[in-house]
Formats: sequence, C-alpha cells, structure tokens
Amino acid sequence: MEEKATTAEPKEKKTHDKQEVVIEIKHLKKSFGNKDVLKDINLVVHRGENVVVLGKSGQGKSVTIQCIVGMLTPDDGTLKVFGEEVPGLKEKELKELRIKIGFLFQSGALYDSMTVRENLEFPLTRVLKIKDQAEIDKRVEEVLEGVGLADAIDKMPSDLSGGMRKRAGLARTLIIKPEIMLYDEPTTGLDPITSREISELILNMQKKYKTTSIIITHDMECARITADRVVVMNDGEYIEEGSFDGLQKSKNKIVQSFFKDIS
Ligand SMILES: Nc1ncnc2c1ncn2[C@@H]1O[C@H](COP(=O)(O)OP(=O)(O)OP(=O)(O)O)[C@@H](O)[C@H]1O
Ligand SMILES: [Mg+2]
Repeated sequence: MEEKATTAEPKEKKTHDKQEVVIEIKHLKKSFGNKDVLKDINLVVHRGENVVVLGKSGQGKSVTIQCIVGMLTPDDGTLKVFGEEVPGLKEKELKELRIKIGFLFQSGALYDSMTVRENLEFPLTRVLKIKDQAEIDKRVEEVLEGVGLADAIDKMPSDLSGGMRKRAGLARTLIIKPEIMLYDEPTTGLDPITSREISELILNMQKKYKTTSIIITHDMECARITADRVVVMNDGEYIEEGSFDGLQKSKNKIVQSFFKDIS
C-alpha cells in the first residue's frame, strides 16, 4: 500500500492543471412545480480540484449533482462535463459519461445480499464488462487496500459498521477509476473520528488518482480537510466562494454561520 488510508498528511499545494475545465455550469435553473430550487448556479471545476459545497438542508445541493450526472434535467442554463452539454446527451453518450463519474450517494449504496467482494465485482463486470477474473481480483483487492478494508472482503454489508460501509461504498465507486467524484455528504451519520478518516481518504484519493471532486457536506472538518475551494449555496445560488481560510473571514452573515462553531 503506497499511502495509508487514514494518515493525516498536510494538504499539499494544488497540483491540478488550472487550465483544464472539467465541469462548467452557467446560469443553471431547476424548479419542481412552483418551487424554484436552482435559480442561478455558476461553477467551474478544474481537473484535480476538490470543490466543497456548503449549504443548509433543502437548498438544492443534491439536485445540482444529480443534474451533473444527467439524472435530472435542468430547466435552463448550460451544464458541460468534459466540454459536452450533459442535458443534450443521448442515452448511450450519457452511459459513457457516467463511467467517468463516481457518485457516492447520500444514502450510501451497497447491495445487502452480496458480500463486499461481490459488491465490488459488480461495477467491473456490469459496467466495465471485464471478464478476466485475475484482473477483477486484483482491482478488488487493490481498492479495498486503498480504503483500509482489506480484511472485510468476504463480509456481508450487515456485518460492517457505519464507517466501514461508507468505505465500502466509496471503494465500489472508486473501483472504476472515475475521473470525477461526486460525494454527497460522505461523513453524515459518522462519529468525528471516522468522519475524519473518511475525509482523509477523500484527500488521499485525490492525490492518488488525480480525481476531480465535488464534495457536498455539512461537516466543517471534512470541508477543511478536503477543500481546495469552498462554495456556499443559499437560496438557489452560490453566494460566495474561496479557500476555506478565506471564507472563514467572510463578512457575509450566511457564510459566517457555517464557520461559527469552529475555532
Ligand atoms: N425529484 C424531485 N422532485 C421534486 N422535488 C425535488 C426532487 N428532488 C429534490 N426536490 C426538492 O428540491 C429541494 C432541494 O433538494 P436537495 O435534495 O437538492 O437539497 P439538499 O441541499 O441536498 O439538502 P440536504 O442537505 O438535506 O441533503 C427540496 O425542496 C426537495 O424537496
Ligand atoms: Mg442533499
């Protein structure tokens, strides 16, 4: 194992290529009935960058990333991933795009009737259509090692703790080596120590696989650990963005409210 999953390492200076835009969102709008959820979302994410999205509950954070993977269709605006307009993609193109995007759902997502190994084999055989069992075994072992779960390979999800299930869910997403990772509240429901471990894992995944990530969280420690850049969402818009330290000094009351409980 090159990097121990849970090691607290100081955050390196940004290594991403500032020039290459991976996700570009302009004036994105989405309403449900008469409820305007996304009013004017603008966001540019560069390759290798970790962008954290903060925002109160029900603001549309999950809706935004569901638009990015084409699960929801926006009403207006542009949304490009790798330069392609996502809402215009045909089913086949959308499938190809989704292979490049890992999505860690808010609810986690393991098949309860399958072992950890079987859960991890699933995306390899079904999505990537890999048939070589030696290759499958190698990738399953490698990714489990990476998330510190090598010993749990033959366990059932019900035999894992909440933190271990999150790790397994993360491994299942990472196994297809996505270029983009979308994390929807990766640490919710976990104790502070496990949350920290997951946050450090997200950081290590960025370093190891050079993934581009959007991380939605309410967990300020997670934001502090993972963010190259933080955006704050309120009332259907991103109202401020900057570094974690920069936003901590913000004059905006709403932005301040996220930082008020931390030292
Ligand atoms: N498929 C849908 N159909 C109708 N309304 C929806 C749908 N998805 C989301 N909404 C509504 O959009 C709003 C924003 O939801 P969203 O899940 O994006 O919030 P959130 O910012 O992720 O909140 P939380 O922090 O609680 O996860 C909510 O009012 C929600 O009820
Ligand atoms: Mg949400």
